Amino acid sequence: SFLGIDLGTSGLRALLVDGDGAPIGSTERHYSVSHPHTGWSEQDPAEWVAALNGAVEELRDTYPAFADLKGIGVAGHMHGATLLDENGDVLRPCILWNDTRSHVEAAALDGTPNVRDLSGNIVFPGFTAPKLEWVRKHEPEVFAKTAKVLLPAAYLNYVLTGDYVADMSDSAGTSWLDVGQRDWSEELLSAGHMRADQMPRLVEGSEKAGELRADLAEKWGLSGPVVVAGGAGDNAAAACGIGALSEGQGFVSLGTSGVLLAARDGYSPAPETAVHTFCHAVPGRWYQMGVQLSATDSLNWYSRIAGKKPAELTAALGDTLVAPGAVRFLPYLSGERTPHNDAEIRGSFTGLSAGSTQEDLTRAVIEGVSFGLCDSFEALRATGAKLDKLIAIGGGSASRYWLKLIATVLNVPLQLPASGEFGAALGAARLSMIAATGQSPESVIFQPDIQDEIQPETDLVDAFDKAYQSFKAAYAGIKAVQ
Ligand code: XUL
Repeated sequence: SFLGIDLGTSGLRALLVDGDGAPIGSTERHYSVSHPHTGWSEQDPAEWVAALNGAVEELRDTYPAFADLKGIGVAGHMHGATLLDENGDVLRPCILWNDTRSHVEAAALDGTPNVRDLSGNIVFPGFTAPKLEWVRKHEPEVFAKTAKVLLPAAYLNYVLTGDYVADMSDSAGTSWLDVGQRDWSEELLSAGHMRADQMPRLVEGSEKAGELRADLAEKWGLSGPVVVAGGAGDNAAAACGIGALSEGQGFVSLGTSGVLLAARDGYSPAPETAVHTFCHAVPGRWYQMGVQLSATDSLNWYSRIAGKKPAELTAALGDTLVAPGAVRFLPYLSGERTPHNDAEIRGSFTGLSAGSTQEDLTRAVIEGVSFGLCDSFEALRATGAKLDKLIAIGGGSASRYWLKLIATVLNVPLQLPASGEFGAALGAARLSMIAATGQSPESVIFQPDIQDEIQPETDLVDAFDKAYQSFKAAYAGIKAVQ
């Protein structure tokens, strides 16, 4: 059997699969995020380790197949800075991907010559390098003791193997990696006042990172050697779970944040579009994605205001897509990454009238999120990514209305996977299968069965395009009055 771990922002999911990658069983453990100041977002890595132990012990006690475990792969929330001293002890809480305290440092690094060229990306405030610049300025005693910086998934690799080793896909989100060359960049490291010896060793996500430590193997009742794969950042792992490996394959994920991801055979960065260009979790491939910070989060916010559950609000719209009305919503509740790279912009309703109803506002919210995704779609297209269809995943994809809306706004069919496993935990398990057995990535990473395909409503494409143009124009005006 093989084990995939998805170290998420709100909890850890562990999935056990058999030798063919078919699910045997899974479990979850939850933990919290602390926000000690506005814009701060931190987690104690000890909670990840406790969650890992609890989840693994439950799987061990529930499924006999665990006893012949051959491989483990870890996917993690990206960009987090876990700082270790020379003994491997954690120096301070991990600063997470959605922490924006270092926006000033991010802008400074982003403006440093060659940084975008080498890293292939804007230095977003959530990325790792600006966080270390912040620590250098504000916690110099911690900075001085920092012997290693590990991303969350690499920290679990360290817990599992005792070695400092990270995969390319996650490391690509640090702003220290030369994403085209798949190696740490001396120039980027020194721009961020870091040294190569503070970085973990690099492997591909589907390569062997090491073996499970003997003490853990004994504790978990395992006798044979267990290979730990390089693992991946959660978006690359999700791409492996959904089978998005090659050109033309991609997904739209309607989660707390919205992600539109395209797998790429080559490296064609376009930082000016605010698209993220990262190494894929298998050798010789990359992926690109637009990231929207408040997707279902926008609807969740409105649902709190309206006093109704998100599903109730979308159910009230029925299943028949209607043309956009006069109300627009700009979904920038937490700022935006693609296409604006603007940590300070905030959301807005426009076009409200005395007759606007709750349904009008619900529609405006999900239209606004869909238009934001269309911004990412256009940015991806500008890099040469061709996507004729997309697989839809994430909590928001439970609303039929929303799916029809997105299919129509993007003007591409959306495919819905049949129920089952296709997330980051499966992607991580698949990476461990490749690392442990030497099978080819193409034979292990494939698409799930598709149960349904949602077509664009061709009659409404033009009306939505017109509304999308007004949505795009609104950003500059809203920016001017904030
Ligand atoms: C990607 C990003 C998020 C986290 C969340 O750039 O910041 O998707 O990986 O888990």
